[in-house]
Amino acid sequence: MSGEALQTLDQQYIANTYARFDVVFVRGKGCFLFDDKGKRYIDMGSGIAVSGLGYGDKAWAKAVCDQAKTLSHACNLYYTQPQTQLARVLCERTGMKKVFFANSGAEANECLIKAARKYAANRHGEDKKPVILTLTGSFHGRTLATLAATGQESFHHDFGPFPEGFVHIPPNDIPALEAALWREDVCALLLETIQGEGGVAPLTAEYLQAARSLTEERDILLLLDEVQTGNGRTGMLYSYQHFEILPDAFSTAKGLAGGLPMGACLLGEKLEDTLTPGSHGSTFGGNPVCAAGALAVLERLTRELLLEVRAKGEYIRRELETAPGVLGVTGQGLMLGIEIHKDAREVVKMLLTRGVVALTAKNRLRLLPPLTIPWKELKQAVNQIKEVVAP
Ligand SMILES: Cc1ncc(COP(=O)(O)O)c(C=O)c1O
Repeated sequence: MSGEALQTLDQQYIANTYARFDVVFVRGKGCFLFDDKGKRYIDMGSGIAVSGLGYGDKAWAKAVCDQAKTLSHACNLYYTQPQTQLARVLCERTGMKKVFFANSGAEANECLIKAARKYAANRHGEDKKPVILTLTGSFHGRTLATLAATGQESFHHDFGPFPEGFVHIPPNDIPALEAALWREDVCALLLETIQGEGGVAPLTAEYLQAARSLTEERDILLLLDEVQTGNGRTGMLYSYQHFEILPDAFSTAKGLAGGLPMGACLLGEKLEDTLTPGSHGSTFGGNPVCAAGALAVLERLTRELLLEVRAKGEYIRRELETAPGVLGVTGQGLMLGIEIHKDAREVVKMLLTRGVVALTAKNRLRLLPPLTIPWKELKQAVNQIKEVVAP
């Protein structure tokens, strides 16, 4: 079927929730994507921070295919090898104690929310401390609870009523945080260390450290949403590891299984026994094929690779910070926001014609290349970006 015919069919049968670009991707190899006409693109988006190892990684593909042939699904009434092994690796590399597996970022955040509320209910009585503080500009997902947690009005229109118990406070404002933490009804604070959908807007180290110490003092849980920042994206396995803080729990998804749908909610010491049989669940969560993929991803996320992620991020920053048409660069590692004079969506379209796939976040250009992108292609993509954003 031609690309044009496919687009017509897509518009006829797919719910119109995505403003798609005019490209049909059919294949990927390494850091390259190929469209239906055989044109090659350098991927600077990783399918929104998902394909951290690029496309067709041999070890990942073998692990996934072998597992698909061996046992593709068993459901969570039984033990399966890859799920248990994955939980162990995740806990050993993060300081968390237990894992609940889901299938997406929003679902992983639902688990964070439920675990925090149940912890508070067990200690203080049901509904005594249901409130979760989140930040304006945040994004936590598209389910009703995670939308309610999301601190951006634009996502809320037409979907009310929302679950109660979320209060939004301004980011990087320590006095506002201190004031909110005095509320009697608060059980947790939920943060992204870098607001991805919010424009690649980072929290300061000072704010994150204050958030940790203030919540600790008041027996309020610190929850992190590492859906976009996790799995090596910022140059640490999880981004909180840059700041010498340990959250009480965190969520992750996107890059975790290298392109297969998987989310995880990692629970620390305080929360490890909170979820009990029947209190939460997921049919597909921790599915053996996704878990095998995630094990292959984690095996590749070595110290050496993470150092390279940081070096590549610093290179992009150096090159673009002083480039004509660029107002500033935000973010960390290979999660970068480029503030530009031009309209970001128009810039993304121009880059597509030049064979570079990039993303937007608010009116910033957003770069989330595969963590394994070779230097040569990275430099080519950066040069293209420089030319396109120039006045
Ligand atoms: C920080 C953050 N949390 C949650 C989500 C939702 O993840 P999913 O689309 O997998 O439900 C996203 C998606 O962009 C995200 O960036």
